[in-house]
Amino acid sequence: MEQYHVAVLKKEILDLVNPQKDESYLDLTAGYGGHASMVMQITTNYQSSFLIDRDPTAFEYLKQKYKDRAVHLMNLDFLSASQQLQNQQKKFDIILADLGMSSQHINDPKRGFSFLSNSSLDMRMDSNQELNAFKVVNNYSQQSLQKILKDYGEEPKAVLIASLIIKNRPIYSTHDLALICQKAWPGYHKIHPATRTFQAIRIEVNDELNQLQLSLPIWFELLNSAGRLAIITFHSLEDRIVKRFFKEIAGPYLDSQATLINKKPVIVNQQELVNNPRSRSAKLRVVLKK
Ligand SMILES: C[S@@+](CC[C@H](N)C(=O)[O-])C[C@H]1O[C@@H](n2cnc3c(N)ncnc32)[C@H](O)[C@@H]1O
Repeated sequence: MEQYHVAVLKKEILDLVNPQKDESYLDLTAGYGGHASMVMQITTNYQSSFLIDRDPTAFEYLKQKYKDRAVHLMNLDFLSASQQLQNQQKKFDIILADLGMSSQHINDPKRGFSFLSNSSLDMRMDSNQELNAFKVVNNYSQQSLQKILKDYGEEPKAVLIASLIIKNRPIYSTHDLALICQKAWPGYHKIHPATRTFQAIRIEVNDELNQLQLSLPIWFELLNSAGRLAIITFHSLEDRIVKRFFKEIAGPYLDSQATLINKKPVIVNQQELVNNPRSRSAKLRVVLKK
């Protein structure tokens, strides 16, 4: 189980979300069920719990893991799943979104998420969707690539990298794309020169920021009164969207609809950082619906 994904900030989620027996639970990014099992062990209300993941590998794993439980599983992107649940007028006491990739995505070279192993350019979380990294890298205009690298990667050399991509087409592998980034950033750098480009293309392929932006109001609507919405982000672009939305709903007014459980995002402690270096950029924000 642990080789697929190690769930982050588990203790902090328990402290801030404070699950209670019989509460209903919606996990929008259930992955390999680390958080879900932890929460549902306390709530024990499997029949009122829904676990979502767009990744077919994660979904098959969840199906197996919970085959003896009455929990509902959905293999969908969380925006579509949330819209369906909204149409069915479902409500939940606890909603969790632990955004981004699982370790399985990074560790399996065939998925094409990592520049550390060589594979074809893929990066799809939902391996059945049409758009993949190959299409973005080889079909998008120079201007679109530039914009993606700038907006989704905050890449200072977006213009240069986009032009190198165009010049070196067709680009087939993660290795070749990483080499282009290295050309743009010669010499030694604290972070690998391909980090921002890979993040940008992954966000575009999976439409990550739009999914989040459009889902947030639905998630809040799906909460029962006294329900808690917990979100873990892994980069500043996501965190900014969540922070802004939480600020909007939990404004300093008597009639605001929510209360921030933590004013500052919670980050991992030293011990977790040592045990699971991938947790280093995780930030947890929790809001309570009045
Ligand atoms: C960080 S992992 C979650 C791990 C999980 N909390 C656990 O304990 O195993 C993120 C998961 O969310 C899924 N995911 C990311 N964006 C999604 C989206 N828009 N809709 C549905 N699933 C998504 C990914 O496929 C991945 O399995």
